[in-house]
Amino acid sequence: MKKALITGITGMDGSHLADFLLEKGYKVYGIERRTSTKNRTNIKHLEGKVTFLMGDLSDQNSLLRCLKEADPDEVYNLAAQSFVGESWNTPEQSADITGAGALRMLEAIRVYEKKVKFYQASTSEMFGKMEHLANENTKFHPRSPYGVAKLYAHWITINYRESYDMFNVCGLLFNHEGERRGKEFVSRKITDGVARIHLGLSDSISLGNLDSKRDWGYAPDYVEAMWLMLQQDKPNDYVIATGKDHTIGEFLSSAFNVIGIDDWKKYVKQDSRFMRPAEVYYLRGDSTKAKKELGWTPTTTFDEMITKMVKNDIKLLSGS
Ligand code: NAP
Ligand code: GDD
Repeated sequence: MKKALITGITGMDGSHLADFLLEKGYKVYGIERRTSTKNRTNIKHLEGKVTFLMGDLSDQNSLLRCLKEADPDEVYNLAAQSFVGESWNTPEQSADITGAGALRMLEAIRVYEKKVKFYQASTSEMFGKMEHLANENTKFHPRSPYGVAKLYAHWITINYRESYDMFNVCGLLFNHEGERRGKEFVSRKITDGVARIHLGLSDSISLGNLDSKRDWGYAPDYVEAMWLMLQQDKPNDYVIATGKDHTIGEFLSSAFNVIGIDDWKKYVKQDSRFMRPAEVYYLRGDSTKAKKELGWTPTTTFDEMITKMVKNDIKLLSGS
């Protein structure tokens, strides 16, 4: 039985990856950090199936202890301060967890000395200021403290692969969403807001910049790509994306459509509090390499994903 250790298991991707690996017959360990009130919304269903270990990406020894306890074949480093907007409020903490956190996990694996395959959650946010389709060779120009921190984590993962012959891969994942997404991200903020309007709990949604375009995929499809990367003979880095871009307006239109509203504009307010000091206006990825070498393609469409998210939020809010 293969063993996997996941950092960030309480998050959206971590919880989906745990579901996926359990299905594959893995023994799964997940690192949780101490918080004043436990938030197990995404992992409640995993209790009794996954072994939870206490640790923190800011604490090197805790990572080594978790590694020794789990003795994994594969480590998936998904933990991060992952909210771009927040990274201007806490740039140092974002650098420490999102950037140096990856280094701490790599050092723990290096010191541990056993052969462990390592996955780093890199991101399209590293491309930042881009105008065309991005692939593995596109130059980086991050536009947020989060993006800069992720770029450090990306290069240190590659550097440890080249320096110590470690099996390290970076997945350059474009935006992916789903029912377990945090409510501060624009996708879930919209689907939750639409559900509230539908149930008469609210009459509008306040958003920032509506002009950005994103290449939005569905999270459960994307965790499969993470796993596939670690099953290859040689470590390599891959862009994971749908190849299609949509504006936030198109996201809104699709979400309001689920509740039968065509004229969504009268329900949306613009609020400068949600604008960013530097914006990433356009992200679209070319995952030809992943399709060719991993056999990976996304299966859930933009509209299907949004429909699932809106229906789930209506269900959660109505308690049905
Ligand atoms: P998420 O839902 O925000 O989950 C982040 C996870 O990191 C949570 O489990 C969180 O734990 C944990 N964490 C934060 N600080 C920690 C610390 N100091 N020590 C240990 N754990 C810590 O993020 P996600 O959307 O699942 O994304 C997973 C990873 O992929 C992240 O690294 C993200 O940056 C990256 N990524 C995401 C996307 C996307 O579109 N979703 C795209 C590209 C890359 P708590 O619950 O305790 O806060
Ligand atoms: N969050 C948020 N809230 N974003 C808004 C809002 C709002 O009220 N109004 C407009 N937006 C715009 C943002 O300015 C951005 O252009 C776009 O919506 C998407 O924002 P987010 O959903 O917060 O995602 P992100 O693209 O910044 O970052 C996500 O994707 C990255 C991959 O490209 C996160 O998951 C990152 O962790 C991930 O690396």
